[in-house]
Amino acid sequence: MAPYKLPVFFCLCGCLVQVYPFGWPDADPINHMKSTEWYKIQNLMSTVFGGKHQIPKGKGSYSVGCTDLMFDFTTKGSLMRLYYPSQDVEYHDTVWIPNKEYFLGLSNFLGTHRIMGKFIAYYFGSMKTPANWNAPLRTGERYPLIIFSHGLGAFRTIYSAIGVELASHGFIVAAVEHRDKSASATFYFENEYAVETNNKSWLPYMRLSLENKEYVQRHEQVLQRAEECSKALNLILDINGGKTVKNVLDSTFDLQQLKDTIDKNKIAIMGHSFGGATVIQSLSEDERFRCGIALDAWMLPLSEELYSRVPQPLFFINSERFQTAENVIKMRKFYLPDKERKMITIKGSVHQNFPDFTFVTGKLLGYMFSLKGDIDSDVAIDLSNKASLAFLQKHLGLQRNFNQWDPLIEGEDINLIPDSNADSVTYLSECLE
Ligand SMILES: *[C@@H]1O[C@H](CO)[C@@H](O)[C@H](O)[C@H]1NC(C)=O
Repeated sequence: MAPYKLPVFFCLCGCLVQVYPFGWPDADPINHMKSTEWYKIQNLMSTVFGGKHQIPKGKGSYSVGCTDLMFDFTTKGSLMRLYYPSQDVEYHDTVWIPNKEYFLGLSNFLGTHRIMGKFIAYYFGSMKTPANWNAPLRTGERYPLIIFSHGLGAFRTIYSAIGVELASHGFIVAAVEHRDKSASATFYFENEYAVETNNKSWLPYMRLSLENKEYVQRHEQVLQRAEECSKALNLILDINGGKTVKNVLDSTFDLQQLKDTIDKNKIAIMGHSFGGATVIQSLSEDERFRCGIALDAWMLPLSEELYSRVPQPLFFINSERFQTAENVIKMRKFYLPDKERKMITIKGSVHQNFPDFTFVTGKLLGYMFSLKGDIDSDVAIDLSNKASLAFLQKHLGLQRNFNQWDPLIEGEDINLIPDSNADSVTYLSECLE
């Protein structure tokens, strides 16, 4: 990236952040402003111009391929990004955010001027995900499968540090793009002719309506999201079973390669924030998901009836800053006798330590927009990924060496807090009632 772009972007962001806190809606603007201490920023000025800003490569032994899959073309169909173990060939890296509409959607979601979206697109448009685009699938093994659900204002491509890492350890990961209008933007096609002419119809992010209570709207959305996760799973299992599916997106990746490559008894679901709520909703509705991992889950969208309806093992990986007592207490409602529940908190982490933005911004922008916490972003995602792998091995019955990270599931690491510290006081007093 040309260095002269940085100052332009920085000045613009610096001005805009005064007017509108450039955070995600569930970030707390008061805390955000407190953490943005200007003396810190002075010291960090130099760091924003130096250093490499890249999404980390997979650390496992498999090469990683990536492709997009859409079927059918309507909003009732599925759209997902697949990360998979690929043959060991060098292909082109994957474009991280493939359409300008996602950038414009992001700026709409953040409530900034459209021009901001153009600037973000300019700044990040050439950014790559470290995966071989459309590379042939590695054959000779059946892989466990993970369906991944994104957060509010996000979309399918921006959790690649997680998708790539899991695929490098021998998972197929399907990051779905939700059509419940919680994505910054997403697309579909009106008809066959639109598919042929690649005339995409874009579905924008929908703000909370004033008439509806937040819960009513978000609950409706989480139900749709869970349905979309199951639909994505159906589609992949159909292809795995030999059904011929024609990818609506023009792709050189032959979907037939996926035939007989999924281990149907080893399917899990993961998600971040709103996607964490989606994990829990999906577990309760679809028993094919053998376990779930909720990354900094936002519990508001879930109904109370669900508390007793999640028999599968469930792992909460939380950031330190995002979680509130109220939210963690809701997580604890899922703790029932003889049900497997685990919770850890990553010290010094923020809500945005899970999506990729934390890697692609310098320290200054990272702090200003609460995209980075006090913990190094690579260290944070590493802990989350390793703890996830250990949990998946345990509950999907994998024969791998991920059990070396079992202590992380218990929060045994200098950068982890076992369980949570967000609710201890309130929770105790509730127990005493
Ligand atoms: C693309 O689709 C929209 C909506 O269906 C339509 O109004 C528009 O004319 C189409 N554009 C082209 C170039 O076909």
